[in-house]
Amino acid sequence: MKKHVVFLAAALFAVSAVAAFAATDALVGACIYKFDDTFMTGVRNAMRAEMDRQGGELEIVDSQNRQPAQNDQVDAYISKGANALIVNPVDRTAAQPLMEKAKAEGLPIVFVNREPYAEVMNAYDKIWYVGAKAEESGTQSGQIIADYFKANPKADKNGDGKIQYIMIRGEQGHQDATLRTEYSTKAMKDAGFEIVELGNDTANWDKVQATDKMKGFISAVGIDNIEAVLANNDDMALGAIEALKAEGYNMGDAAKYVPVVGVDATAPALEAMSKGEMLGTVLNDADNQGFAAVKVAVVAADDKPVTDESIGYTITDGKYIWIPYRPVTVENYKEFMK
Ligand code: GAL
Ligand code: CA
Repeated sequence: MKKHVVFLAAALFAVSAVAAFAATDALVGACIYKFDDTFMTGVRNAMRAEMDRQGGELEIVDSQNRQPAQNDQVDAYISKGANALIVNPVDRTAAQPLMEKAKAEGLPIVFVNREPYAEVMNAYDKIWYVGAKAEESGTQSGQIIADYFKANPKADKNGDGKIQYIMIRGEQGHQDATLRTEYSTKAMKDAGFEIVELGNDTANWDKVQATDKMKGFISAVGIDNIEAVLANNDDMALGAIEALKAEGYNMGDAAKYVPVVGVDATAPALEAMSKGEMLGTVLNDADNQGFAAVKVAVVAADDKPVTDESIGYTITDGKYIWIPYRPVTVENYKEFMK
């Protein structure tokens, strides 16, 4: 009997020692530029899942696409005693005051998805950025189109040896919009193609806006002249596909098909790929971006050194955590379906 009690006490001690080591009691306050964004919803869910594992408290608020509202939300987190902040800025060029609010309190601040300028990143030691290298996603999406043209010579519908394409861009000023546009066109050229831009406009990451813009391009240049569509994200790629479908395209008839690529690998995009409506996308790894942001915030909130070992991700230049992109094609898209 006595033996059992001793054993039980030892077991309980072991459990509580493990718990004391693993759990945090940090309160992390997070702001997301807007909840109504497909990719950021994935990041948000991943943040929540990671904090559930860590045992701390995570509050997440919707900044509703308004920077002044987000600034107030950060103030509110500070007054209620948050131990770290995670911010997905509405306007990445307006990150400086947010950094300064955190710095004045000595609070760790982790920016995600919208990269502050280097001078802001360099002005404080408890600041990190978790994101992905937009150049990579641009290159990979351009390569998917180039590979398709190499494998399908008839994709060059007018037989002029050039790719006539439409570019649908994300929000003006977002590093992902600028760099994906630049690097996707560069990748087609680097693959040996001459390219001709038939249309180029922003649809602000939004599906409905992309459908409108694509309808406009179709009536302006004629659907038969469009040989490819590159969109800076999947929601806009899917919006463009809606416009193509309205013309009877991308619905299974091989003679009526325009290859469309996006970025993100959202569930609806993978679904569209499985139906043959969409050519490809690039994984923008929402899970790892969300997990990493919470890990950095918790380690920093607990006043422990933020290192590759303590967070489980590689840190570049002391403050950048880059999550790799991956090309998603008809060969491997099933791997990414959840
Ligand atoms: C991009 C993503 C877009 C959109 C945007 C929001 O990385 O590809 O779909 O979510 O971030 O900032
Ligand atoms: Ca052509």
